[in-house]
Amino acid sequence: MMGRQIAQVFAQHGHEVEGTDEDQQALKTGIDEIANGPYGVNASLSKGKLTPEQAGRALASIKTSSKLDDACRNSDLVIEAAFEDLQLKQNLFQRIESAAPSSAIIASNTSTLSLDKISQKISKRDRALGMHFFNPAQLTKLVEIIRGPATSNETVERGSRIVREIGKTPVVAQDEPGFIANRLGLTLYMEASKLLEDRVASLQDIDTCMKLGYNHPMGPFELADFVGLDTRLRNIESLYKATNDSKWIPPKLLREMVQQGYLGDPARKKASKGGYYEFQQIKR
Ligand SMILES: NC(=O)c1ccc[n+]([C@@H]2O[C@H](COP(=O)([O-])OP(=O)(O)OC[C@H]3O[C@@H](n4cnc5c(N)ncnc54)[C@H](O)[C@@H]3O)[C@@H](O)[C@H]2O)c1
Repeated sequence: MMGRQIAQVFAQHGHEVEGTDEDQQALKTGIDEIANGPYGVNASLSKGKLTPEQAGRALASIKTSSKLDDACRNSDLVIEAAFEDLQLKQNLFQRIESAAPSSAIIASNTSTLSLDKISQKISKRDRALGMHFFNPAQLTKLVEIIRGPATSNETVERGSRIVREIGKTPVVAQDEPGFIANRLGLTLYMEASKLLEDRVASLQDIDTCMKLGYNHPMGPFELADFVGLDTRLRNIESLYKATNDSKWIPPKLLREMVQQGYLGDPARKKASKGGYYEFQQIKR
């Protein structure tokens, strides 16, 4: 989900992009979403946000390769956006380091994992950075830049400059669990889940509160469905692992939904049976 969104943003700002995934189907659906998805290039074209030339150029500048080495070979910047799993990301960082030019920045889009740990096994750690985009990256203006203990000032500055060049605002956070945005956003979600579990209010009313009372564009459950419930569960599990703080024990309901294949909005997660609102229907 995030890889394709980030690829599109860079392509629309004049960069050559190589997308890679171990799953061939993900590459195919990724390219299709970039062209025809709800925030894709063709949607921007029909809204007049891109000219036909810009749209054509953006689509032509994204290539895909199933081989990570080929995709990274000529890169100035590699952004890893694989599953939220520490060992997987550590391995990918090692593979990226051996494939990419030594001048390339190696970034992770991790939401919750420690950049220090992700970059532990590479040799030039000064060029490792967190670049945390928000969903949908085509629309959201924020990118958190995560500075690990080994990240150089030059890497932070280069990363921040790139973020500005693609029309977004960087904020810099230290490498602490949840950084800034997820520590705040997931705290809201955990409290919303407690309200639901304690039967203080209904799903709809909790979402409505945050939309009408605080002008949030989506309620906490709508946002979780939008993000993907499997991703949300992995993020909370990883915060719990990192902090050992019981406030991050994943809600039972979330785990149950993911186990039963309710992974969030089916328009965004193709294999999903639905999200909170659909699950509520079958539970009645
Ligand atoms: N979903 C969100 O809203 C969101 C927002 C910000 C950041 N993030 C972060 O972005 C990252 C990706 O999240 P997502 O929701 O896009 O996940 P996703 O499940 O949609 O995509 C992950 C992709 O990683 C691929 N992958 C797994 N192992 C691989 C390997 N060894 N080599 C190559 N590809 C591999 C999978 O095939 C899959 O296509 C996570 O770190 C997540 O925390 C997610």
